[in-house]
Amino acid sequence: MEQVVISIGGSVLVPGKDDVDYIKSLAELLLNASAKCKLFVVTGGGRIARYYINLGRDLGIEEQNLDELGIEATRLNAKLLILALGDGAYPKPALDVKEAAQAGNNHKIVVMGGTVPGHTTDAVSAMIAEKIGAQRLVNATNVNGIYDSDPKQNSHAKRFDKMSYDQLKDISSANHDKAGPNVIFDPKGTRIIAREKIPLFVCNGRDLHALKKSILGEEFDGTIVG
Ligand code: UTP
Repeated sequence: MEQVVISIGGSVLVPGKDDVDYIKSLAELLLNASAKCKLFVVTGGGRIARYYINLGRDLGIEEQNLDELGIEATRLNAKLLILALGDGAYPKPALDVKEAAQAGNNHKIVVMGGTVPGHTTDAVSAMIAEKIGAQRLVNATNVNGIYDSDPKQNSHAKRFDKMSYDQLKDISSANHDKAGPNVIFDPKGTRIIAREKIPLFVCNGRDLHALKKSILGEEFDGTIVG
């Protein structure tokens, strides 16, 4: 059975808009897809993580502890998705990639958030993909692929249907200096998938048709890196 990792941003899972309908439909999609492939889902922290991190920073809390606040938010989102999946998933967020890989031996769907300070859930998704030898990694983000500039700011931005790992490395390290949500896939995660030659499928996670197709490895609306 194919093994697929899905990195789903907090800004996709719980942006505060139609979240109930979306999460219900997402859970149904994942349960159906899990009949065909084993799924490892990594949830981001989104605005809840950002709120706590900014609040903590204003309180003078140091960076490593701010990361821990972020990790807690990613795990809260992971638990929410697990509860929405009912009996279909490993019942708690895996705390690290080792636990996730082990849980995958007995469960069709494993959900986790972050692991340790110093990276984002993109990097975690690449680490679990490496650990289990995933066939592909799906990045369910809030744009429908990778563009040559920010499509929300530039209406002439051009989307890539396909790009190489080196092109993604250039984009992710250039954007990383600015930090924040415009980073399509974090540089650490990019290095791992490039080294392991794991294809990255980037789609709009709120477009459930595109998400389903990319999970199943079929032609989809988005960008393939590989
Ligand atoms: P996210 O992966 O959600 O970061 O982790 P993000 O780039 O804001 O992603 P979106 O918006 O959900 O798509 C939130 C924060 O949690 C900490 C980092 O501080 C990160 O910015 N974190 C997360 C870690 O320190 N380690 C992890 O393994 C995961």
